[in-house]
Amino acid sequence: MKFVNLKCIAALFVMDCLLFGLMVWYTGEDTETLSNTYIYEGKDMNEKQTKTATEMKKIALTFDDGPNTEYTPVLLDGLKQRNAKVTFFLLGKEVVKSPELAGRIVQEGHLIGNHSFYHDDLSKLSTEEALEQIGRTNEVIYEVTGQYPQFLRPPFGSVNPQLVYEPPMAEVLWTIDSRDWELHDVGTIISNVIPNAEENAIILMHDSSETSIQAAFQIVDALQKEGYCFVTVDEILFD
Ligand code: NI
Repeated sequence: MKFVNLKCIAALFVMDCLLFGLMVWYTGEDTETLSNTYIYEGKDMNEKQTKTATEMKKIALTFDDGPNTEYTPVLLDGLKQRNAKVTFFLLGKEVVKSPELAGRIVQEGHLIGNHSFYHDDLSKLSTEEALEQIGRTNEVIYEVTGQYPQFLRPPFGSVNPQLVYEPPMAEVLWTIDSRDWELHDVGTIISNVIPNAEENAIILMHDSSETSIQAAFQIVDALQKEGYCFVTVDEILFD
């Protein structure tokens, strides 16, 4: 919880500094005044920020089926600009093709989960086959990141209750389906998400098309203005 708050505080701090810079520019104050007041504001900010951070609402964006060589880098750039952290449920077969993207996802503070190797319906495979796909995906992710995923999103949201994962993984579905994979229309994707947004919601998206990426950016921009802080799913499920 503390960790989340710190990240939200950092975002607010940057916003405050930008706003203050604009105010100073507008009122035409000189540089000396700026630095003095900046320090004063910094000291004062602890109280102000603690209050604001407890009022932030956490929400999670999740992206399935990547990494995608064309769209994941664009998404990562935009998320960095917006100081938003998200969760990627990766396919083993795509990680093998673009291991550097899986590495970048982790380096930039996002979370990686397992989405199987070939995107097969796990409830329709034998237990042995399903566990083999999951285990193989865990291994390719471990090779790149040095960590085994703690979260699994079964393809199609199709849970197979007979599967016992080793190491243990929590299955993560979603509470809001953007239906981005079939719509390919930025406005409609957004209208599936924003009116349904609420604290601790988990939003399903895919980093596999231009429309998904553009919709994701607009969703982040709009919900941040409404006081939401974008966090990885572990911070929603375990806090
Ligand atoms: Ni999928």
